[in-house]
Amino acid sequence: MARDFDNQVIVLGVTGSIAAYKSCEIASRLVEAGAEVVPVLTSGGREFLGTASLEGITGQRAITDMFESVQNPDIEHIALARRANLFLIAPATANIIAKAAHGLADDWLSTTLLATRAPILFAPAMNTMMYQHPATQDNMALLKSRGCHFVGPATGALACGEFGPGRLIDTPAILEAAAIALCNEQSLRGKHVLITSGGNHEPIDPVRYIGNRSSGKMGYALALEALKRGAQVTVVCGPCEVRPPDAAIVVDTPTATAMLEAVNACLPQVDIFIAAAAVADYRIEDPPTEKRKRNGANLTLELAPNPDIAAHVGAARKPHQLAIGFAAETHDILEHAAAKLKKKNLDLIVANDVKSVDSGFGTDTTRAWFLGQDVEPEALPLLSKAELAQRLFDRVAILQATLPATNR
Ligand code: C5P
Repeated sequence: MARDFDNQVIVLGVTGSIAAYKSCEIASRLVEAGAEVVPVLTSGGREFLGTASLEGITGQRAITDMFESVQNPDIEHIALARRANLFLIAPATANIIAKAAHGLADDWLSTTLLATRAPILFAPAMNTMMYQHPATQDNMALLKSRGCHFVGPATGALACGEFGPGRLIDTPAILEAAAIALCNEQSLRGKHVLITSGGNHEPIDPVRYIGNRSSGKMGYALALEALKRGAQVTVVCGPCEVRPPDAAIVVDTPTATAMLEAVNACLPQVDIFIAAAAVADYRIEDPPTEKRKRNGANLTLELAPNPDIAAHVGAARKPHQLAIGFAAETHDILEHAAAKLKKKNLDLIVANDVKSVDSGFGTDTTRAWFLGQDVEPEALPLLSKAELAQRLFDRVAILQATLPATNR
């Protein structure tokens, strides 16, 4: 199975922040995911973190000195600037951000940032006041306007005792952002993708709910793939264990009714709608505001049907808006999925066999078919959810090409 960072050369710049120790975990995850990681420490980075751990994890000699590299052609800055697929600066201090913004080149890292044309991703980590200072904010805006990527920082307690934005964001978010920055396939640039993901919690009373086992893994994979291809992504997200990627706009919606409201609010700006949520079919209308008391007798709950969000979008969408759904089936999979494709007026439906152990709720892989209007169903091999998302957006590109030119 292809890994996100196979054959990718990533220069990992470590600058002088207390969070420098976290760069070891980042390096380790990148190496596991297939990358060749070349660690570079500024003098500040080296004060906080020695080179031994990073060299052990990456199997590469850490670069620390501008003049040493002249003697060593492998780490010579122009050679590496050309060979790198990505520069990831994590943690990135206000100082390296300022130097990169203004073209200062007084050490190996800042010099090589000028020499490279590879994508550059900064993961800032600093004191909140430094982060919020107009100088830092302006420098970041300048770098963004030149196409540099940023991830984080997270908000929380900082080593200096303050609370606010400035913590190095978690490693998974940095890896997501690195995968997005590395992706050359930009077929969704300028497009807005709206995805429903997760399940619902329909309240029985203030402390109990009716829920389902949706993990949110498919919605996550779809959102990440759309982000990689350059889309703006909004995830209307019900309760689930896997949160959407950090770069997506997330609207948290516990119930189906709240999900529909959020979808409606976003729909006018959307080019592609994907219904990946396991929406609750029923809800309790007007649940009590006080906790129901147990009295030993049977309890009968009256359930009202929830709105069908996919069908609603299928009916309300404009000609340029694509609508895609999923159908989780246990038997007569293709017949049931084909009926849903028609009934909900979708362009494409992904039929899932949720009965087999390697497919459906909570699994990392899936057995699926693509069913479109006026085309033969396509049976897909056993795929990871990430691979299914890639194939789905390949189909989206075909669907977009068939839209009248004015609607693309
Ligand atoms: O009808 P069924 O629930 O099997 O349809 C599945 C598809 O419809 C999925 O794409 C799901 O996200 C969507 N759906 C929805 N709103 C509902 C029920 C299903 O958007 N109330």
